[in-house]
Amino acid sequence: MYSEKVMDHFNNPRNMGEIEEPAGVGTVGNAKCGDIMRMYLDIDDKGVIQDVKFKTFGCGAAIATSSMATELVKGKTVQEALLVTNKAVMEALDGLPPVKVHCSLLAEEAIHAALWDYAKKQGIQIEGLKEPVEDIEEIVAEEEA
Ligand code: FES
Repeated sequence: MYSEKVMDHFNNPRNMGEIEEPAGVGTVGNAKCGDIMRMYLDIDDKGVIQDVKFKTFGCGAAIATSSMATELVKGKTVQEALLVTNKAVMEALDGLPPVKVHCSLLAEEAIHAALWDYAKKQGIQIEGLKEPVEDIEEIVAEEEA
């Protein structure tokens, strides 16, 4: 049911933990399943993501997608990090079962929430970044509509 990569990231999550005094931190949840994901970003003055950590209270797919998402944004600029969509994360994991696609949306949205927080603290606007939702179901419902 799960690819080897998903199992690997679930069993050995990369970048799990917290960053003290992060440049940006974002939390999103899914009210339906009750899962919560938090992303911490350390961003230098050139706008490059130097470090990223996550904490996920959620299912195995949510943990694997958080882990892969952190790997994909690390070392990237803020603008490049915006290209790390849930589809990109799923592709990097060699796919997810259809019922678990929403879990990968948590990862995308948690990164966006952390970037949003960073932009707010810096008093800047990140082009193409929309205000994140707190509950991922709002996006799932939008996509299904
Ligand atoms: Fe809730 Fe996966 S089932 S995030």
